[in-house]
Parts: sequence; structure tokens; C-alpha cells
Amino acid sequence: MKDYAKYFQVPSLNEARKRTAEATTVEYSIDPRFLGIGQHRQYLIQTYGCQANEADSEMIAGIFEQMGFDEASTPEDADIILLNTCAIRDNAEQRIWGELGRLSKLKKVNPDLVLGICGCMTQEEGVVERLLQKTPYVDLIFGTHNIHKLPEYIYQSYFEKERVVEVFSMPGTIQEHIPKKRKQTHKAWIHIMYGCDEFCTYCIVPYTRGKERSRDPQEILKEVEELVALGYKEVTLLGQNVNAYGNDLKTGFTFGHLLFALDKTGIARVRFTSPHPRDMDDLTIRAFAECNSVMEHLHLPVQSGSNAILKKMNRHYTVEHYIDIVEQLRAKVPDVAITTDIIVGFPNETEDDFQATLDLYDIVRYDGAFTFIYSKRDGTPAANWDDATPDAAKKERFDRLVAATKVHANANNAKYVGTVVEVLVDGVSKSDEAMLSGYDRHNKLVNFAGDPMMIGELVHVNITEAKTWFLMGEQVT
Ligand code: 5AD
Ligand code: SF4
Repeated sequence: MKDYAKYFQVPSLNEARKRTAEATTVEYSIDPRFLGIGQHRQYLIQTYGCQANEADSEMIAGIFEQMGFDEASTPEDADIILLNTCAIRDNAEQRIWGELGRLSKLKKVNPDLVLGICGCMTQEEGVVERLLQKTPYVDLIFGTHNIHKLPEYIYQSYFEKERVVEVFSMPGTIQEHIPKKRKQTHKAWIHIMYGCDEFCTYCIVPYTRGKERSRDPQEILKEVEELVALGYKEVTLLGQNVNAYGNDLKTGFTFGHLLFALDKTGIARVRFTSPHPRDMDDLTIRAFAECNSVMEHLHLPVQSGSNAILKKMNRHYTVEHYIDIVEQLRAKVPDVAITTDIIVGFPNETEDDFQATLDLYDIVRYDGAFTFIYSKRDGTPAANWDDATPDAAKKERFDRLVAATKVHANANNAKYVGTVVEVLVDGVSKSDEAMLSGYDRHNKLVNFAGDPMMIGELVHVNITEAKTWFLMGEQVT
């Protein structure tokens, strides 16, 4: 491999902190000389992290296919392997460093193999420094803001055998119409906005994903209409701070307006992730009640039940405000399922702070929660704070929180026994090949005996048994 002949740009945290003028939208295009050059060669993408990364990987796969590559079924078959990475917690990063080391061994068997890394980790200064120093076997490094340049990078790294390192610190444009190779034919991810301007003190995302940029509503509606025409039943709207959608457009067209507009497209189901309590407005709450396509499930990350911790986290709401949103929504949609994200062991979290989180848990009676132990992220404000809470106390609180999560999940699921729910059938159940599985409108995982012909369809299932994390039932229609 030759060295950085053409591309060399590393990320800068200071640049990533900046928020500049509005983003412009451009039409993605590929230089015709790259079309078809990948024929008889294979790519493999390994995706880590959130749905935004899943959606990005569908675009990356779309670009590979546009260039003529086929998807490999194993790393051994691949000519190019790309890891699309996540930086949210240290354990996510450790897994990826381990995987890079393992994959590097394949180069002994296949010296032409290109090993690449992209996504949120490569937006971190320290990560790219370490990659440059310690992993000479990594040939291709790019970030979250330059996926559209992948054809050039592939050409340069695979065909010209030059190492490519190009990470933009700040987002440039919104790229429309990058081809997508969607994983599923009945439900789809849709990025509606990119980036995050919240700067929660624990979180790396505002630096890895850049400033908030909303897509043009007409582009989103057109994309969903096309999916409806193809027979898709469900879309999940994605944004790091999804209900801040539209704020940067300054046209008055907000997230709530988008939900009402999507309801008219004929798509059966709309989900979204993740909203911020601060941006939950009346119109969005009304959409839950008035738009049949908006599912009866709200994933609303709270992070902590202590106002003191919320303030240190820079969350811009109080527990009381959060509970008020939940009550307003439940007044309109009594059976709505509510799930959340919680961080345990934020710097200097006291036992009283943690108790407040458990109290909130009992007030909201969550259907489920993603619970995390705080992980220090370089470059974030909280990373510089002293932390007197011992790790053992954090782990013990975490275990208590998980136990509380199960109590409420069980109680909520028990209510479904004897009711009939609508399920979008995803496929054969992972735990029992004789069963089908899918999600109901409340985002409950439902396993049931049924005809595989119904995969991708909406069916009705009578719930016969409730478990902590899924329901069992029998298909009725
Ligand atoms: N440590 C632990 N959890 C975190 N999250 C975000 N940053 C951190 C961190 N530094 C969690 C939050 C967020 C979810 C996606 O990940 O709960 O909502
Ligand atoms: Fe991970 Fe956050 Fe990046 Fe998603 S946006 S991949 S959760 S760091």
C-alpha cells in the first residue's frame, strides 16, 4: 500500500465544536468512470451502534452496488471490509479495536484486501491518531460527513492501492438520493435530520455527527410515497434529536407537521427515534392521538430522575416537565407504551439522585428501558470532572435499575393477555424456528405460530402469554 497520495485529512475536535451557517442540499452523483468497476469483487460492511448507523450502512451498500460490487457473505470472501463504528460508550469502541485486530489477519491470506473504518469513531481525534500510529493495516478511514465520496475512496484504496484518510470535522451539505440497498422490504429507516446541537455534557454525538440539519420535507414525503408504492408498511424516522426536525429550516414546518403530512401518504406505520423531552410539543402529542399511522409507543430518553443530575447533564428540562409530557400523552392515548434511556453513575451521582431515578421509574411505569453505566468520552465536558462515585456503587445501582425495569415490563406485558394486537411480521422467530415474530403497535415483540407467507404483512394476534421482553399469541386473521 502506498501512503496518502491524494487524501489526508484528520478530524479536529475544535472544528467539530463549531456551529456554522445553514446546510445546503445537493444531489448526490457518481463519476461515471466508477460505475461497474467493482464487478466480480465483493464488499462486507459490519455495522455497530444505533439505527442512524444502520441507515448509513444501507447507503454505503448502495454505493458499493452502484459500482458493481456484490455483498460478501463472510469476511473471508470479501475484497473490501468496512467497519461502520459507534463511539457512544467505551465498550462499543473496545469491541471495534478487537475486531480490527482479528480482521487484519485476513490480509495474510489475501494481501489485496482493503480494510476500512468509518462512522462515529473516526470522527474522534484520538481514535484517528491511534489508527495512524498503531494500525498500518487499515487502508481506508473516512467519517460520517463524507459518505458521498466513497466511490473515489474505493477507487483510490482498492484500485490505486493508496491509503485514504479523509475525515471532515464539520458537516458540509445534505446529500440527497444516495442509492440505498435496504435490508428489508417491509420496513425502512428514513433519516429526517442529521446532527445534534444539544451538547449534553456526557455525549460525544454533537462532535461526531455535527450540527443539526433537517432534510427538505418534500424529499422525505417523496421517499415515503415511493416506499408505499413498493409495498412498505413501516418507516422509522431517524435523527439524533429527531423532534428538533425543522427548527433549522426556519419555515415553521416542524416535527409535528411532518407526522401529520406523513399520515396522508398511506404508510401504515410511522415510528421515530430518538426525541428529546425539550422538543416534545402539543402538535406532536396530538399526532399520536389523531394520526392512525403514528404508533402507540414513545421512546423518550430521560437519562436521570434527579433534577440536579439533569442540570449537570445540560438536559434543559426537569423531572416534573418530563412527567407532565407523559401525563399529557396518556390523557390522549391511554394505552401508549413508554420506554426510555437511563444513564447510571453520572459523575458524582449520589444514592439520593439514583433513588429519584427509581422513583421516576415507579411514576412512569416504563414498558422498557435501555440502561447504561456512564462512560467517560474524551472531548465532552463531563470527561474533565472529578467523580467521587466508586465503580462498585455504579454497578450495584445498575443492577437495581435493571431489576426495576423487569418489574414494570412484566406488569405492563401482563395486561396484553387476552387482547388482540396488530403485528407487522418480520420473519421467523430467533428463539424458535417454528414461530413467526414481529412487533405490535406498542413495539411489543410478539411470537406466534403462523404461515411464513405472512412475513412482511400486518396480521392480528391474540395474546395468550406474557413474558418480560415478549408476548406469545395465536394468529386470528
Ligand atoms: N455514557 C453512557 N451512556 C451514554 N449515552 C450517551 N452517551 C453516554 C455515555 N457517555 C446513552 C444515552 C443515550 C443513549 C443513546 O446512549 O442514554 O440516550
Ligand atoms: Fe453510536 Fe451515537 Fe454514532 Fe449512533 S450517533 S453510531 S449511537 S455514537
